[in-house]
Amino acid sequence: MQEKNVSRRGFIKWITGGGIVAFLASVFFPVVKFIIPPESGEANVSQVKLPFGRAEIEAEAKKSKTFKFGRSLGIIVATPEGELKALAAACTHLDCTVQHRPDLGIIWCSCHNGRYDLNGNNISGPPPKPLEQYIVNEVGDEIFVARETS
Ligand code: FES
Repeated sequence: MQEKNVSRRGFIKWITGGGIVAFLASVFFPVVKFIIPPESGEANVSQVKLPFGRAEIEAEAKKSKTFKFGRSLGIIVATPEGELKALAAACTHLDCTVQHRPDLGIIWCSCHNGRYDLNGNNISGPPPKPLEQYIVNEVGDEIFVARETS
């Protein structure tokens, strides 16, 4: 009689424990999946084709457009000489997105008044280093932007 009670009690403990474990797993698994970022196939992008052409860049008031370069942003600028310059758009100070100021002839970061020339060299303000410069290739109406390989 005593043995039957123990085995029934053990079964109930086993079912209860299993239920608790299953409940905790169902609650924490989605939380853990949310916290850990998924691996991205875009991390090591070395070249992108822009979804717009020279005409769209030159039609913009700021003579520039931003584009996705892998997981980061780039900026492409039409210079007064008709050249296209592409740079990383994240300011090297605190990662704000930079913009072209054709009125001043610079790339400007509005967060802390950081200034770069059109080659991405930091010329004043807090940015500690230049913006990464990309290679621009125009093939017909298409524009390809590539990271320099060293
Ligand atoms: S983030 Fe650009 S100057 Fe500070």
